[in-house]
Amino acid sequence: MSSVNKAVILAAGLGTRFLPFTKAVGKEMLPIIDTPTILYHVEECVASGISDIIICVKEDKPEIEKFFTRDEEYEKYLISTGHKDYADLIKYVSTLANIYFVTIDKPVGIGYTLYQCKDLLGDDPFVVILGDDLIINKGGEPVTKQLIDAYETCHHPLIGVQTVAPERTKKYGIIKPGKVEGRLIEVKGMIEKPKDNPPSNYACLGRYLLEKDIFTAIENTKPGAGNEIQLTDALTKIDSLYAYDFIGKRYDIGDKEEFVKATIDLALDREDIGPAIKEYIKSIK
Ligand code: G1P
Repeated sequence: MSSVNKAVILAAGLGTRFLPFTKAVGKEMLPIIDTPTILYHVEECVASGISDIIICVKEDKPEIEKFFTRDEEYEKYLISTGHKDYADLIKYVSTLANIYFVTIDKPVGIGYTLYQCKDLLGDDPFVVILGDDLIINKGGEPVTKQLIDAYETCHHPLIGVQTVAPERTKKYGIIKPGKVEGRLIEVKGMIEKPKDNPPSNYACLGRYLLEKDIFTAIENTKPGAGNEIQLTDALTKIDSLYAYDFIGKRYDIGDKEEFVKATIDLALDREDIGPAIKEYIKSIK
């Protein structure tokens, strides 16, 4: 059995970049065809051996909890109207894992949001997934499994990173790398959204594997970039931190262009509509 079986998905952001949609619905419910992105995150956890998932949600956006809560009446209705396949599908969604919800009262940074899960997480190591970052590793291990495997080798907290183009470093938490061994990189420091002189082009892309010492670090972290309690700033206070250069294609689903690209890529991969979409794209002048 894996040494890591808990994860936190942070889905309590404002989603400003996707207004007006996000006025009423959280951006994690944006569907890639018929599948909300948060279901991809939960499936990534389950495929990585995680059984207990905490989802941090905003008080005024109850749809994520509704989506994952079992509705036996609706299942019965679907069966009675000849749609057993859909009944199975919605049952699958609500029985995938043990899912717990934590309601976040104010949007003051992902460090603050994560801290609200402290008591539920106890002493165990856990994965953190940022709801914006959809990472697909077609035919290979999900990014969360890659981090868990790396953790079982190095036994230190880890950040999932990939290199980004130099002009994009100002959008991310950027690490200062130390010794590199294969995909494992020693972290000598980190800066949240460096305006200039980034310490590298290794960007944190929404996956972390952390231990309980992060909570003491958050307690000692003052508001940083954007006047928010930044997880990046708290991570710099951890004794021994590593990064893992994961394999997979990452989409920022809070960005309109990347959301459309994710939709196209994943539509093309589907057996039911993929061939028709491919033909359609070819036909566009
Ligand atoms: C957050 C983190 C940042 C990370 C990014 C990845 O920033 O603070 O370190 O690189 O997610 O998506 P946000 O995009 O929420 O401003």
